[in-house]
Amino acid sequence: MSEEVFRSPKKRGRVAVLLSGRGSNFMALHDAVLKGWVNADIDLVLSNKEDAAGLRAARDRGLDTLFLNPKLFPSKEDYDREIVNELRRKETDLVCLAGYMKVLTPFFCREFKNRIMNIHPALLPSFPGLHVQQRAVDWGVRFSGATVHFVAEEVDMGPIVLQAAVPVMQDDTEDTLAARILVEEHKIYPEAVRLFFEGRLEVRGRRVFIK
Ligand code: GRF
Repeated sequence: MSEEVFRSPKKRGRVAVLLSGRGSNFMALHDAVLKGWVNADIDLVLSNKEDAAGLRAARDRGLDTLFLNPKLFPSKEDYDREIVNELRRKETDLVCLAGYMKVLTPFFCREFKNRIMNIHPALLPSFPGLHVQQRAVDWGVRFSGATVHFVAEEVDMGPIVLQAAVPVMQDDTEDTLAARILVEEHKIYPEAVRLFFEGRLEVRGRRVFIK
């Protein structure tokens, strides 16, 4: 059986960022775009939270923003269909989840297969899900970190693009560990998007090869 291979495009890309909160990863990505490190434009910043600080920041930066209220849609899939329509209108090449606190429906995952990335504040597949910095402290692991991965239907389990590790100190709290990890998040997310639009990511099964 021949294995399905996806190669990322080499082009100036159109990126949509989905977020629900403060938006520091969005800002790191946008800063990298402004500096010319990433060959892409952020054409849309979309949120399920009207008061997300990240949405305000995007507006202040002069970007197109959109708040879509999930309560106005009869089902999760209807909500995601509206987002997908919006992304198609924008001719989005890559969707970057950046603290987007909604699980994508299988429909959305399929429509944008290999074209949705997420940043997760742990070394996957350890600590998927929520409150992962606290869980890493409680578990007593010596290292944690950040993972950029493609989004697949199983939450936090898609093919891994980049990871960065940080030590976990004995006196760490959730907050001190989160801060140490966040520094790395802001490096590897722009780097992953840069590699994507340099046409250097090849997805084979669950492995991502960097060319
Ligand atoms: C980050 O820790 C990210 O890894 C997780 O949600 C948080 C979002 O932070 N998915 P920010 O909104 O980008 O500052």
